[in-house]
Amino acid sequence: MSQEEGSLEARLEEQETFEPPESFVEQANVADPDIYDEFANNWPDCWERAANLLSWDEPYDEMLVDDDAPFYEWFTGGKLNASYNCLDRHVEEGAKNRAAIKWEGELGETRTYTYGDLLHEVEAFAATLRELGVEEDDVVTLYMPMIPELPIAMLACARIGAPHSVVFAGFSADALATRMNSADSEYLVTCDGYYRRGDALDHLSKTEEGLEGVDHDVSDVVVVDRLGDDLEHSLGERQHDYDELVDEHAGASVDPVSRDAEDMLFLMYTSGTTGKPKGVKHTTGGYLAYTAWTSHAVLDLKPADTYWCSADIGWITGHSYIVYGPLALGTTTMMYEGTPDYPEKDRLWEIVEKNQVDVFYTAPTAIRAFMKWGTEYPEKHDLSSLRLLGTVGEPINPRAWKWYYQHIGNEECPIVDTWWQTETGGMMITTLPAINTMKPGSAGPPLPGISAKVVDSQGEEVDAGEAGYVTVDKPWPGMLRTLYDNDERFVEEYWEEYSDPDADEWVYFPEDGAKLDDDGYITILGRVDDVINVSGHRLGTMEIESAVVGVEGIAEAAVVGGDHDVKGEAVYVYAIPEEGYEDQEADLREAAEEAVLESIGPIARPEEIVFTPELPKTRSGKIMRRLLEDIASGNELGNTSTLRNPDVVEDIADQVGAD
Ligand code: WTA
Repeated sequence: MSQEEGSLEARLEEQETFEPPESFVEQANVADPDIYDEFANNWPDCWERAANLLSWDEPYDEMLVDDDAPFYEWFTGGKLNASYNCLDRHVEEGAKNRAAIKWEGELGETRTYTYGDLLHEVEAFAATLRELGVEEDDVVTLYMPMIPELPIAMLACARIGAPHSVVFAGFSADALATRMNSADSEYLVTCDGYYRRGDALDHLSKTEEGLEGVDHDVSDVVVVDRLGDDLEHSLGERQHDYDELVDEHAGASVDPVSRDAEDMLFLMYTSGTTGKPKGVKHTTGGYLAYTAWTSHAVLDLKPADTYWCSADIGWITGHSYIVYGPLALGTTTMMYEGTPDYPEKDRLWEIVEKNQVDVFYTAPTAIRAFMKWGTEYPEKHDLSSLRLLGTVGEPINPRAWKWYYQHIGNEECPIVDTWWQTETGGMMITTLPAINTMKPGSAGPPLPGISAKVVDSQGEEVDAGEAGYVTVDKPWPGMLRTLYDNDERFVEEYWEEYSDPDADEWVYFPEDGAKLDDDGYITILGRVDDVINVSGHRLGTMEIESAVVGVEGIAEAAVVGGDHDVKGEAVYVYAIPEEGYEDQEADLREAAEEAVLESIGPIARPEEIVFTPELPKTRSGKIMRRLLEDIASGNELGNTSTLRNPDVVEDIADQVGAD
């Protein structure tokens, strides 16, 4: 590092606040600080700003219906189609030849779909789905990696009013089956494989295995030929070839189905506190308006922009901010199939330079990996096309924030640290990039119109400087409407903690801890439930535990998250062998790891699996998870005298990190 660079870093290290650069403010979509008051003074009608970003077939009669809270309705009476909003209207407005999706495969091949091309292929696939028998409100499962056919299939579903349920391609066969069963989904779109670090991964066999676990008839499986080999037809008559069907239906015209604002656009399964994933339901009007609005106000997207969110479409971030938000605004959205270090660690920066990316949105875990790899990789490329940077998925530590600001943004791009969840549909707490001072590590104030607060266990707002829990005490258009087929669990999971149903006061509880500062900025501290966040991926510890205790020879297990330099958190498993299996630790460890991969997938691979004759328990028999977390994170252990079995703690601590 040169001396000049050294002093630059030292200067940034001391700096606690950063102002939006003038050059950014001048061109921003939203730059007037009065927007906070405008929304507050005109709530809920302020949300017409979001609705007005869409084209409605029929205008809504009511902004918000709250008679049956917490089952809220937004834009009631309005009708629209999401695929029309993301495609047709841009083509009608003359943007036929503007790039809608720019895709890059891991091996270097590229594809560009203009808005005209994309509409054409979406119509062809929508016609295909119809011919296969898909009707309005049938749930279509999409088990696909980062290939253009995934957003095409999503928009084709949206066009005919069939909700999609995308299952992350990295999830296991079992995870696919669980989700298809839960949604009673009879249609599946998948592919033969995809590339990871130069290797072709077999996705079709995994699909086949998953289908074996589906408890009802799956009538049709459409397979995209991604690898270009001869496609195997291992699924029998129900297997169809995507390319053939799309060719057959090329030129088809499929009118977008006019959907009620409250009709389901998609289902997205996410981890919760029990072993069973939750099917989060999002709607056509509220969700689309909210993702379009936040893409406009926070990501500052404009039709002329090339925008890249490096998440996977299999997670909510990709749904909201690769597909629906950016396409609703007519922007060019990038997709990259592979890993950031293939073939070299500068792959992302090469893509930014080559495509002149204007806005880049990624996860803190990726930034920490870039930091580790060193500045030489971004320095190889001209990143001056960038105007705005964003992060999402987990707390970002100030050091990583400053590295991103300096080495990717060249101190010229604001950074938005956006807090939100699968359930919220879109961003909730973040600075507005042209308005607010940035404070590295703190997400910022709630967005205009979002009534997020930090409260104590009684629901009272905490004072500045104190920590508590995030709550949201007013509804917003992008919110989940319920859990699929499970209204009861919806109320229990999100509304019971802080609401007062007798007074008809409803408070949404996201299960995150946070700290408030003097300026009303919220610093997110992390989950307060049994959900952990590995590399920005949300995993339920109960799901992992139930996989581990399914192994023959394992009697009991506790799974917790421990601090990890790059991943944020990593999975730690503590397990008790059954009697007679005590000397088979190596085999049990292997079997436990295998079970986790099988039931969830490689993202949940344990960092360590520690065997112990006992787990630390309170006198009432509750496993002391906090203590296990401290052990995993290498923290100083506090008082263990309240435990029934304090000795066991030291034995476990000795084992962790021993190898
Ligand atoms: C965490 C991802 C700190 C949080 C969009 C939340 C964050 C969970 C941030 C949701 C952030 C998300 N700062 N923590 N900017 N963004 N989280 O459903 O704990 O996959 O509850 O949605 O990620 O994860 P999910």
